[in-house]
Amino acid sequence: MNYRRCGRSGVLLPEISLGLWHNFGTADDRAQNVAIIGRAMELGICHFDLADNYGPPPGSAEERFGHLLQQEFAGHRDEMFISTKAGHLMWPGPYGDWGSRKHLISGLDQSLRRMKLDYVDIFYHHRPDPDTPIEETVEALVQIVRSGKALYVGLSKYPPALFNRACALLSEARVPCLLHQFRYNLLDRACETGMLPAAREQGAGAIVFSPLAQGMLTGKYLNTPTLPPDSRAGRSDSIFLDAAKVAADAARVAHFQTVAREAGIPLTQLALRWLLQRQGVTSVLIGARTVAQLEDCATAANQPPLSDELMAQLNQEAVPS
Ligand SMILES: NC(=O)c1ccc[n+]([C@@H]2O[C@H](COP(=O)([O-])OP(=O)(O)OC[C@H]3O[C@@H](n4cnc5c(N)ncnc54)[C@H](OP(=O)(O)O)[C@@H]3O)[C@@H](O)[C@H]2O)c1
Repeated sequence: MNYRRCGRSGVLLPEISLGLWHNFGTADDRAQNVAIIGRAMELGICHFDLADNYGPPPGSAEERFGHLLQQEFAGHRDEMFISTKAGHLMWPGPYGDWGSRKHLISGLDQSLRRMKLDYVDIFYHHRPDPDTPIEETVEALVQIVRSGKALYVGLSKYPPALFNRACALLSEARVPCLLHQFRYNLLDRACETGMLPAAREQGAGAIVFSPLAQGMLTGKYLNTPTLPPDSRAGRSDSIFLDAAKVAADAARVAHFQTVAREAGIPLTQLALRWLLQRQGVTSVLIGARTVAQLEDCATAANQPPLSDELMAQLNQEAVPS
């Protein structure tokens, strides 16, 4: 595994990081989870990305991960870089969501209890809050670092102007923003006109999620009359990818499948390598349901670079609007 520096910081992250948004909930197989985390560590994938609401149900991914840390990976805490987040709906009433100091401090305390940790390596505000003053959100993040409950802080899905303002306030408090986390893949390049260059200008790293568009950019939904029942789009407990979304993107995925075939590499590798070669990307944040998927994705870090010609072709395929 290669490691890249997070902006202007002392932190190195693996080129491939592992997210626990899916596949680590109550209904998911514990033994499979142990195998995935263990193999990730063997491969040098030492950054694990969580959030309070990952599961399902919300909170269960942190609980599962906490149990695994205690029972299977005790002694390895310092080899791992562990994140969590708050800012999406987590509990009822006025304090269970968004970006108030009350929500962020309570949310992180709950996450630490679920994971049985004293601190996380990075705590993110999960999404911008249109109603809470950014000063309050930033003060909460600063308080969290000063209290020792997180070593670093990050932001997720912030539009560039608000991201720049938050970064300025964080820098004033000498708690710089370590990472911006946002979606980036061959089908969604919206970040290129704002979030990606802003992260670089602010000296933050960029960690990009859903690099395979939740699995669509493996090509596995092409030419299948029915959705595979164990796939994210086919599972009834997964609400973020469905038949309609798969159908809407099928033609574009098929096009990239053809490009990959002509280049002689699997579509999964093409999609991940393209991201790794885009300027400003620190780490590509994948999800994996099986060890085989994890290994497949990790391979991308060890492949020869895509040629300049292929990069140029892909770069002009889907210029963001
Ligand atoms: N900050 C935010 O708001 C935010 C939002 C979304 C995600 N994230 C983070 O980003 C992480 C990754 O997001 P993601 O899960 O959408 O990433 P992704 O890598 O685009 O999709 C992962 C899914 O694709 C399928 N897959 C992966 N490798 C495969 C392979 N080799 N062959 C066939 N199928 C494969 C698996 O789903 P199947 O079940 O279909 O096999 C897997 O669970 C999350 O876990 C989370 O940590 C953050």
